[in-house]
Amino acid sequence: MITINEHYLKLQASYLFSDIARRVTAFQEMNPEKNIIKLGIGDVTRALPQACVEAFHQAVDEMASDTGFRGYGPEQGYDFLRQAIAENDFRARGADISSAEIFISDGAKCDTGNIQELFSQDIIIAIPDPVYPVYLDTNVMAGRTGKYKDGRYEGIVYLEATKENGFVPQLPKQKVDLIYLCFPNNPTGSTISKDELKTWVEYAKENNALILFDAAYEAFIRDESLPRTIYEIEGAKEVAIEFRSFSKSAGFTGTRCAYTVVPKECRAFDKDGNIHHVHDLWNRRHCTKFNGVSYPVQRAAAAVYSESGKQQTAELIRYYLRNADLICKEIKALGYEYDGGENSPYIWIDGKRNSWDFFDLLLNSTGVVCTPGAGFGSCGEGYIRLSAFNSYENVAEAMTRIRRELG
Ligand code: MLT
Repeated sequence: MITINEHYLKLQASYLFSDIARRVTAFQEMNPEKNIIKLGIGDVTRALPQACVEAFHQAVDEMASDTGFRGYGPEQGYDFLRQAIAENDFRARGADISSAEIFISDGAKCDTGNIQELFSQDIIIAIPDPVYPVYLDTNVMAGRTGKYKDGRYEGIVYLEATKENGFVPQLPKQKVDLIYLCFPNNPTGSTISKDELKTWVEYAKENNALILFDAAYEAFIRDESLPRTIYEIEGAKEVAIEFRSFSKSAGFTGTRCAYTVVPKECRAFDKDGNIHHVHDLWNRRHCTKFNGVSYPVQRAAAAVYSESGKQQTAELIRYYLRNADLICKEIKALGYEYDGGENSPYIWIDGKRNSWDFFDLLLNSTGVVCTPGAGFGSCGEGYIRLSAFNSYENVAEAMTRIRRELG
């Protein structure tokens, strides 16, 4: 008899964004005349930067001749891209990361979801609340939690991010082994200072723990004093893995390219306390389960680091941040409290009511799609998240409709 992984039965309904997409499709079918504006899932809408498009075309042309053709590439990614990343995203910020420590992949969602495979079943995991659902769900699937009870999974240490702590989770009171952090934060848009991040690195060192640092939204940081990578913090290489993505920074959500940094020093332990290099384990997994991102996509990603690519991606970020500024201004004028938007494409709004009710209200009366905060965890109840990823015209129209409804 084929039996299932019963841990899947503990999961709550469907994946948050699939659930929302289904509701929006049903609404559109019932109201075909309504022009829906999506400020829900953080999916980019602007064209790829021209430098990336040109590199993409050129790589496809190379593939069209026998001499230029490439078959399987290195599982870890082509050196031209790994070098460009190490140089521009890390060494330029004083973070000593080498190309050999970078693993190219097809998405930070996959990497943040897959990384937990490297660790034993009985570790204690700390996960923020609210949180990008992938961290939690993948650990549920792997059987690291108990049942879902009163809005939470047994066995998880929840790090609450609330208005009181500025949506920056505090160190756990109990000892944990694996810590998920995301800054600029999805969903709240909050950021972490170097000093605050330093306390997490110190905690990880003192407790032989490991930090999984999701920096997918790093490109939106405007405040120069904020850390762009956890490796700006001394000693972080030993205790932290960082996830990055070209999805939001260069419009690659449909193109797929991301990377994970696993420093050579990064360590974990076996049950006898012997040290092991996480880099070697991740490399082993990557080689076994992944055959690399396509050559044209990696060429397109590398073009992000050309002079024109840098200018064009900066322009893209400025465009979305202008949308974020508009959302913040309008929300403030309506008398709602919010966080994020300053160094993030997400605006986290205290809706002063149940978040799914707010979602329904906005969809039904304005045709605007948001993400209900409760979908990110129980601390998200009462909030909604608006995303700045749309055209300026659509964002302006969405805010006009919201103002009419709530003003
Ligand atoms: C989000 O809306 O939170 C993100 O777009 C989801 C993702 O990146 O997978």
